[in-house]
Amino acid sequence: MFVLGIETSCDETGASVVKDGNEVMSDTVASSLEFHKRYGGVVPEIATRYHLEVIDYVVKDSLRSAGITLKDIDLVAVTQGPGLVGALLVGISFAKSLSYSLGIPVVGVNHLWAHIYSGFIGRPNVKFPIMGLVVSGGHTSLVLCEDIGKFRLLGQTRDDAIGEAFDKVAKILGLGYPGGPAIENAARRGDPEAVRFTPPYLGDDSYDFSFSGMKTAVLYHVKGRKLTAAMTADIAASFQKAAIGAIVEKAISACASKGIGRLVVGGGVSANMLLRKELAAAGVNNGVQVIFPPMRFSIDNGAMIASTGYLLYKKGKKSGLTLTAEPNLGI
Ligand code: KG4
Ligand code: ZN
Repeated sequence: MFVLGIETSCDETGASVVKDGNEVMSDTVASSLEFHKRYGGVVPEIATRYHLEVIDYVVKDSLRSAGITLKDIDLVAVTQGPGLVGALLVGISFAKSLSYSLGIPVVGVNHLWAHIYSGFIGRPNVKFPIMGLVVSGGHTSLVLCEDIGKFRLLGQTRDDAIGEAFDKVAKILGLGYPGGPAIENAARRGDPEAVRFTPPYLGDDSYDFSFSGMKTAVLYHVKGRKLTAAMTADIAASFQKAAIGAIVEKAISACASKGIGRLVVGGGVSANMLLRKELAAAGVNNGVQVIFPPMRFSIDNGAMIASTGYLLYKKGKKSGLTLTAEPNLGI
């Protein structure tokens, strides 16, 4: 069974062909990132127009790379939400048109579920339960997954998402957009012990996160100072250490208290090497197997949508032509 996955929730236009839920035949991603940089963040109108311009080419490229044609596709899976409404509608309209004209089913996929599932792409026999951790530009969520589609939100950020905090701190430090890779890069030359940034205490039994206080602490720390490259690197390293530390601590303690032995991590921030290193180490120390997606599936992509769509379809989910964007879709 060939599944075409389409992803257009933010600034990446992704299309991928996945065979029988476990073989990624192609994975094409085009990004409008360059066009957003000068504005310091994603501009929804620019992202939407870019999707419209390239989606046809991206889908054609993924079919060509997979060595198949449209007629071979058995199912179209598309991101339903959360995301930018105009951007989502481009992918959804395209997917529904394919479904209608080819006479094949379409299935809407929750982008957050797909990020969690991205650690299992190419390995469809997932053994549940698992703990899911989504760390992206819009979300920081800890999710107990009992089965595919049976997800329970344990905790989430009360203010900024972790990726958003990286982006805002990078802006304060003049490091540009996107902030995550920029902070990670600057941090390599800095001392993580130079400045103490601490996450707020949110209660012993809370799995929530909060990052806006740390971001404001960075703002006050740099206020009135002329930053040298060395000072910037120290602040980047110190912020990164504190923010990642908060994630690692909450994720591992959630696994321990719920008795879950496997943690899967997805979303753009899962590309961060310090997060990967620290979570892996904490996992070893606490008997938790930590699973990360390959780097290319950390960022938004069509393969995670196709793979998750396949599993949902196998469970009996079909969306039909009334499928529409759900920009605020939760877990
Ligand atoms: O999952 P994603 O591609 O899009 C959303 O669904 O939000 O995540 C984008 C976020 C951005 O905030 C970006 O700064 C962050 O992921 N990010 C990183 C790294 N690479 C991307 N954050 C920290 N370290 C990185 N290496
Ligand atoms: Zn995402």
